[in-house]
Amino acid sequence: MTQAEKFQKDPRIQQAKKLIQEALAEHQKPVDKLQGPESPEAHENYKKMIEEFSEKRGGSLFYDYIGSGFGSGPFVELADGSTKYDFITGIGVHYFGHSHPGLMNALIDGATSNTVMQGNLQQNVDSERLVSLLLEQANINGAGFDHCFLTSSGVMANENALKMIFQKRSPAGRVIAFEKCFHGRTMSVAAITDKAKYREGLPENLKVDYIPFYDYKDHEGSIKRSTEALENLIKKHPGEYAVLMCELIQGENGSWPGHTDFFKSLFEVCKKNNISIIDDEVQSFGRTENLYAFQYFGLDKDIDMVCIGKMSQACATLYREDHKPQAGLISQTFTSSSTAINASYFIINEMVNNNFLGKNGKINKLHNHFAKRLEEVHQKHPEKLEGPYGIGAMIAMTLFKGDLEKSKKFTMKLFDNGVTSFIAGVSPVRVRMLVPMGALEEKHIDEVVQIIEKTLGEIE
Ligand SMILES: Cc1ncc(COP(=O)(O)O)c(C=O)c1O
Repeated sequence: MTQAEKFQKDPRIQQAKKLIQEALAEHQKPVDKLQGPESPEAHENYKKMIEEFSEKRGGSLFYDYIGSGFGSGPFVELADGSTKYDFITGIGVHYFGHSHPGLMNALIDGATSNTVMQGNLQQNVDSERLVSLLLEQANINGAGFDHCFLTSSGVMANENALKMIFQKRSPAGRVIAFEKCFHGRTMSVAAITDKAKYREGLPENLKVDYIPFYDYKDHEGSIKRSTEALENLIKKHPGEYAVLMCELIQGENGSWPGHTDFFKSLFEVCKKNNISIIDDEVQSFGRTENLYAFQYFGLDKDIDMVCIGKMSQACATLYREDHKPQAGLISQTFTSSSTAINASYFIINEMVNNNFLGKNGKINKLHNHFAKRLEEVHQKHPEKLEGPYGIGAMIAMTLFKGDLEKSKKFTMKLFDNGVTSFIAGVSPVRVRMLVPMGALEEKHIDEVVQIIEKTLGEIE
């Protein structure tokens, strides 16, 4: 047994963990509900803090949200002592809610290890354990991924995938992506993300062409149009395309799932033309009834690389031997923090072994409950709320026929009334939620739906 293992098993460490759990349970009780600020004075100071912080960070916050660093399940405590239902979870990060007891234990394991960060010259046993779990789960239906490279953000997982593909496909250097896609904001990836505003003033560094994403209202027509668009691009630039970049479920555009037939048709054309396929699951990983979204769509053998992030805490690029880069192409001082790596293992292990996945798993059950309740609101107010849309832990709705100003106003009012959400997409704009599945119960959904309905009534 290593000294590290002996240290972790030391009765004093075990006792300390037990005491932390006891204190946690006690302090969580008062925040396990919606409540206003501690006092008018606390709220005034909080407002001042937000103003100063916004100024220092160089831009205002979307909401008046600065967390205290504590919470209970779906409830987050803000720095003025108020609580909110956190249904956007840092845009899909806090999948087990706030101050989750099991997750806290995993964080303690990371925090009491020897390093803050792990990376290029510093990999610990917990990195090996996480990489093995990610690969094992990716391969349960025979996908055959050989390698998994950890990294610290979703966009870096994508950036690493792109570099590996460009190296393999060199000199082909063009990219095909989907209209309204979002893949992140590094110099290269901002060139792919289909939002001109996010690359204003940046020099062009990648040639990117777009094809339409799946339209569920016109299944056959949509497959035909996008496949033809892809074929036409390839005819126009023969041999120039290296990669097709996909979100199997478009997240930032407002939780739009694609379809197996749609992807199969496009991927077949890609295979014939030596174009590699990146499946960007940074947002969708862990949110369908399967751990990986490619498993949900039955595309295990069809994609070349999968990138994960957000709810997985540590991010990663998984690929096969045929896309292995030459030495030196990818390396990072920081792959992730020891706490994030331990948290990641805890979360994925829970999901795989604790009834989250599958047709009758927690994700589907809670999605169905949420969708049913929102459908009731739609029936009552069809002109105000359309939907719900989305899949699993990704829920979206179109409000006021997709009016941007009203939808924004709604998210702000909803926040004031106690629930976080976020705006997404263009034409139509949607309001979406990336819910804390690991901490959610039906009673929480019921209260949030009541608040949604009340807030709809408050928008002029
Ligand atoms: C599909 C997708 N890819 C990549 C990213 C970028 O991830 P990160 O912000 O962690 O770099 C996001 C973030 O929203 C995303 O939704």
